[in-house]
Amino acid sequence: MTRQPATLSFDIGGSSIKAAVVAPDGTLQGALVVHATPRPAVPDGVLLVLTQLASGLAFERVSVGFPGVVVDGITLSAPNLDGGWVGFPLADELGRRLGRSVKVANDADLAGLALIEGRGVEMVITLGTGMGAGLYLDGRLVPNLELGHHPFGDGRSYEERVSDRELAVIGTERWKVRVLETIAQIRAVWNFRRLHLGGGNARLFQPSELPADVALADNRAGVLGGACLYRESSTPRA
Ligand code: BGC
Repeated sequence: MTRQPATLSFDIGGSSIKAAVVAPDGTLQGALVVHATPRPAVPDGVLLVLTQLASGLAFERVSVGFPGVVVDGITLSAPNLDGGWVGFPLADELGRRLGRSVKVANDADLAGLALIEGRGVEMVITLGTGMGAGLYLDGRLVPNLELGHHPFGDGRSYEERVSDRELAVIGTERWKVRVLETIAQIRAVWNFRRLHLGGGNARLFQPSELPADVALADNRAGVLGGACLYRESSTPRA
């Protein structure tokens, strides 16, 4: 069996940046470290935090979950960070600074890779600063589904209705009703077999409050998916 290298996995969020080394067997090696996202969240400031978090850690390769559209290691949007991320070559720039191979994917896409069962249509929704969404068919990712920005109900987008900021305004109980409405709407359109509900605010739900086809996700998925990113990209594409 070929030895799998340890992956330093970053999860960049609107309020915090998480980092952990994921061991070859897919488990966390050491602690998960959390650092506040610098404000303004410009590329240089975020890169500085990433390199500081990496120092002193043993790893062979790097993965990054990024809160926006990512194509070929280039970040194309970042609604909850800074406009300077549009067209930023994050994989190359971080690779240069850390001297390792770096893969970057959308944060929700990456988290889902650690959660999916690999059968039929599965989705992930992450609830945090923004609303992330991932779509998978038989375990294969359909990247960059920006469902959070789709208008719904009163004309505001899903993200505007269930964001962290909105939670603070309307309170937990009303917010939960909105999340369940969002899930019902997504189910009616996408007919998922299983939806994984993750992100920091998913912990406000008890499993018993969710429909049977919705699973509460391990909140560490945002970093655990980093190692899967290497597996996913090594799978032959149809
Ligand atoms: C972004 C998504 C991201 C989500 C969660 C949204 O605002 O558009 O790409 O996955 O926030 O971070």
